[in-house]
Amino acid sequence: MRGLISLILCAIGASVVEGTRVQAANKHLSELGTLKAKSLPKFLTNNPLPSGYPWGDRTASNTNPKDAPSTGVTRHYDFTISRGELAPDGYLKKSGILINGQFPGPMIEANWGDFIEVKVTNNITGPEEGTSLHWHGMLQSGTPWYDGVPSVSQCPIAPGGSFTYRFQASVYGTSWYHSHYSAQAAGGLFGALVVYGPSHVSYDEDVGPILLADWFHKDYFNIVQNIMSTNQSLWANPSDNTLINGRMPYNCSLVKDGTPCGNASYSQFKFTTGKTYRLRLINSGAAGMEYFSIDGHQLTISAIDLVDIVPYNVTVVTLGVGQRTDVLFTPNSNGTAKAIWMRTLQSGKYCQRAANPEGRAIILLNGAPEGSIPTTTAWPPPVDDGTCKNEPLENSVPYYVETLPEPSVTYTIVINSIINATGHQQYTMNGYPFMADYNDPLLLLANEKNYSYPYNPEWNVINFDRNTSMRVVIWNNNTGPHPMHIHGHDMYVLYDGNEAWNGTIVNPQNPQRRDTHNLRPHGWMVMQYNADNPGVWPFHCHIAWHLSMGLYVNLMENPQEISQYEIPMVMKQTCDDWDQYSSTHVVEQIDSGV
Ligand code: C2O
Repeated sequence: MRGLISLILCAIGASVVEGTRVQAANKHLSELGTLKAKSLPKFLTNNPLPSGYPWGDRTASNTNPKDAPSTGVTRHYDFTISRGELAPDGYLKKSGILINGQFPGPMIEANWGDFIEVKVTNNITGPEEGTSLHWHGMLQSGTPWYDGVPSVSQCPIAPGGSFTYRFQASVYGTSWYHSHYSAQAAGGLFGALVVYGPSHVSYDEDVGPILLADWFHKDYFNIVQNIMSTNQSLWANPSDNTLINGRMPYNCSLVKDGTPCGNASYSQFKFTTGKTYRLRLINSGAAGMEYFSIDGHQLTISAIDLVDIVPYNVTVVTLGVGQRTDVLFTPNSNGTAKAIWMRTLQSGKYCQRAANPEGRAIILLNGAPEGSIPTTTAWPPPVDDGTCKNEPLENSVPYYVETLPEPSVTYTIVINSIINATGHQQYTMNGYPFMADYNDPLLLLANEKNYSYPYNPEWNVINFDRNTSMRVVIWNNNTGPHPMHIHGHDMYVLYDGNEAWNGTIVNPQNPQRRDTHNLRPHGWMVMQYNADNPGVWPFHCHIAWHLSMGLYVNLMENPQEISQYEIPMVMKQTCDDWDQYSSTHVVEQIDSGV
């Protein structure tokens, strides 16, 4: 039989077989970016709706977006994680990580105030790995153990095991979820998360998520091995391509090692001139900043992360890893173009980490036929001043005003990059790189009143005790940009600059709020957040490789109250299962672990 198969293979020629393999891998691509993708509703309608909206008479202006209604509805999802072949850009990647056989993972949808319940089954094999999913931007108030960070809120889900997350969609807007176990997300383990809520802007159609992501042909684990190696020639790991909604044809003539390549297509969208579309931009990449634009058109920014913004216009939208921006787009009928390019570009000396920095997708206007290739011209990329900065803080005015309280404490964090005694590159925050202990989650220890860790400085816990509002001044003493993300909160961003902070707050009456802010190379940022959510909350750079190298701290909030939580038994069971697994298998933790 074997001989017969190889005979047939020889007869039909290797390239056909390889082409078939790419086609088979393409079955794993989700409908996102195809003309089959559906636009999103204003809200999910299978709620009992006595009075119109599932959130009643709450509006974007009369209610704090963190003051969620209780709808009594639970949205159930069942995720099975496994490896699979993927070729989103045509290049056959043998070890992608998929959810329900799909990349990007399925979109999660809920109405504001609903509960989201996701059963996650870890079927990763060849080799096995632990896993854990984090719901980026979800506040997890009252449920910090479902935040999905191994070593902090839970033990990893052991191979073969399942774990069910359950948390409230207590804020609304555009977000995403991703693995928080090592750099698994860079292997494809992420998807969009949309919470429907009141809108402060009007539009005709919600196009849904537009995921922008750098893409790596190597397995994520090999990249982590390179980054964590003592061989400096392996430290630069530029991405191979830039995807929009999981697609972007690769130039297969660049492939020199015989890996199958071909059959890729651009993402496509069908739009009509004069109509206004809501685009939910998400940088779901591992390392690269994205500059998003649509040729010849301005875009109106209406939300950043999960915060509605007083609308303003830009030509190019800047997104660091983990950041989201909702924009409104109205195609105009100036000119004769039937098709226009949507682009996302990685650019700038310090911000760019890409071999193929430009991702493109096709907008078909007014019924232009599928396959029309645009000839439109790009906006000039932002001037490279070396800062990799976000939009100016001045411009981002939250639509719902939240007054900045006086901080009860001001704390300074310095970020350094170092080469340690064993020759490994690491990032430190206040002197230490973070190192996870998968078997001993900090939150569960704190629940047992064990909340000081002087014996393990590499757990990087800053205990803010009973402080009510924490102001954190961060100085980045190295040449990398760091999209800094806080869990369990949004943060006021008070300052962002190249110069040391002089105490001046931008828009002090109503400072910008968001959950991820891009810290400049050799720059400063000042953020503040309120102690309204007792827990142990990660604050870290969202660049996967920097996180691997330890650029991470835990902010402990109200430890006395953490010890009062009644943590579900399943958390201990998950640790027992992990202890059992890790005592009988080698867990290859070669990086920080998160
Ligand atoms: Cu988007 Cu700590 O994560």
